[in-house]
Amino acid sequence: MDTQQKKPIGIFDSGVGGLTVVRAMMELLPSESFVYLGDTANLPYGEKSAEMVRQYAFHNARFLQEFDIKVMVVACNTASSVALTDLQQAFDFPVIGVIEPAAKEAIKVSSSKKIGVIGTKRTIRTQMYTHKIHEIEPQATVVGKACPLFVPLIEEGFLHHEAMTLIAREYLVPLRGKIDTLILGCTHYPLIRDTIQSLLPEVHLVDSAYSTARELRQLLLERGWLSPSLTPSRLFYATDITEHLNTLARMILPEMPFLTFEEVRLASTPVV
Ligand code: DGL
Repeated sequence: MDTQQKKPIGIFDSGVGGLTVVRAMMELLPSESFVYLGDTANLPYGEKSAEMVRQYAFHNARFLQEFDIKVMVVACNTASSVALTDLQQAFDFPVIGVIEPAAKEAIKVSSSKKIGVIGTKRTIRTQMYTHKIHEIEPQATVVGKACPLFVPLIEEGFLHHEAMTLIAREYLVPLRGKIDTLILGCTHYPLIRDTIQSLLPEVHLVDSAYSTARELRQLLLERGWLSPSLTPSRLFYATDITEHLNTLARMILPEMPFLTFEEVRLASTPVV
């Protein structure tokens, strides 16, 4: 076996939301081993400054590098928005973010090229989705909408609560008639996909988790790095383990009912 094939994939997010990417990976790439890191001590990234998120992203990447990974996936939209290029330049393994795969897919499925993007405040402020979409399709119209209350409501387990419907209506109704495709530009949003779809029934939803898993599969295929393993290993680390962390994680990944996180403290040396 090629040595690269055997190596795990590193994947990080600000919390457990990135498990939506893991879920897609397990479906499309069931033989791959991976190491997941949720930087729960510093969640939410979406409310932090770009420089702070960049620092966190480097600490996470250095931790994953220790596992001799073949590829790193930045599952967090906020970290992908502010730090992807710097990470790609700093490490010698390929680094995939969630922005480009979702942007490409949105352009492919949108017939009017009127595309909406929802995400955290930081993700929307960077306009990375808009830049990526325009790089590929300059004529596209992109409408960005920050939805900062979705993450805390989901973290609180309020997925089907009436508060969620109320907030979702406030954020999404103004998008009606303006777009035909909407990118779920945050790890947590696939978990409220049904609520979003019910408010925008005509709109095609693009899940950045699945687009990213497909892009990862393509990269592994092209390089001949797909793992043939029948017993892949899956490791889950978090920088702070709170009471409901494992519950939330198992809710996202019901196929792993015994999923437990191990706590890890990351060095806080500043990144230059
Ligand atoms: N993981 C973040 C993202 O995808 C959402 C949670 C946070 O703000 O840290 O943007």
